[in-house]
Amino acid sequence: MKKIAVITSGGDSPGMNAAVRGAVRAAIGRGTEVIGFLHGYRGIMGNEVVPLTSKAVGGIISYGGTVLRTARSKEFMTHEGRQQAMEVLRENEVEGLVVIGGDGSLTGARTLFDEYGFPVMGVPGSIDNDISGTDFSIGFDTAVNTALEAIDKIRDTAYSHERVFVIEVMGRRNGFIALDVSLAAGAEAVLIPEVPYSLLEICDNLRAMRQKGKRSSIIVVAEGAARASDIKDFIQKSTGFEARYLVLGHMQRGGSPTAFDRVLALRLGAFAANRLLSGFKGEMAGVDGSKLVSHPLSYVLSTERSIDPEKLLLVEVMAQ
Ligand code: F6P
Repeated sequence: MKKIAVITSGGDSPGMNAAVRGAVRAAIGRGTEVIGFLHGYRGIMGNEVVPLTSKAVGGIISYGGTVLRTARSKEFMTHEGRQQAMEVLRENEVEGLVVIGGDGSLTGARTLFDEYGFPVMGVPGSIDNDISGTDFSIGFDTAVNTALEAIDKIRDTAYSHERVFVIEVMGRRNGFIALDVSLAAGAEAVLIPEVPYSLLEICDNLRAMRQKGKRSSIIVVAEGAARASDIKDFIQKSTGFEARYLVLGHMQRGGSPTAFDRVLALRLGAFAANRLLSGFKGEMAGVDGSKLVSHPLSYVLSTERSIDPEKLLLVEVMAQ
């Protein structure tokens, strides 16, 4: 291939820049020109081209967010939108595309591949870590550490005032962030969308903990499981314990990526570009343990990634 393009799409995640750098420098190293489109699929349709030279991706490895910007495009979900995108790709003589993003963005890549046979390679970029075919998606580790730092601080004030704190973390369809953060922060309970919970049981546990002398508690809620404010109200009414809540929100998506995310992103970006240039297409790069792997997008997008029940149980056991 003489020229390939790279986009970042959907919700940004820390480490996306490292993935762009990995893809760009791996391709340039093989004599291939690289361009980027700003704002994901929207930028392809609008021909928002930027040259991606080796120099252009210098110094970005430590930045959070994405220098290529990002967007969620409704227009690209239409046939006309994709037709337009294909015309722009052809006009720019782009022969392959690396898409860095979450499930929506990977679905877009798969559609381009299915409808037009266009060579695409996906790179999993999402703080949610809900993408199949990889143990980790780019940004998850940083998001967990960001949430953890906040919860450690909340723990200090919760302890001092002897309060219950309900903390809402991101994850509208799943509890991967909530679960890992709960284990790392030593939370007393975790509520995730995948598993039914009983607030009455949680209140009973909080009372039992008080009896044993534990006078402050942290409860982590994934945004898709419940609203932290509602949980806080229920607990306060039901137990009489003083409670507060905090929604961590989009701060979990920002910040400089951890070393783990930088290395992961760099490896996945370079691997995706290399596979594309070696003739593979319609796949997503991922990690299985420490090994790089690649799976068809059709497999990735039709397989659910499920939470580890052992981790959920461990939160309970550790809270005793
Ligand atoms: O998919 C990543 C994510 O951060 C989810 O955890 C969250 O529910 C969603 O994006 C928020 O999306 P937006 O940035 O559009 O508010």
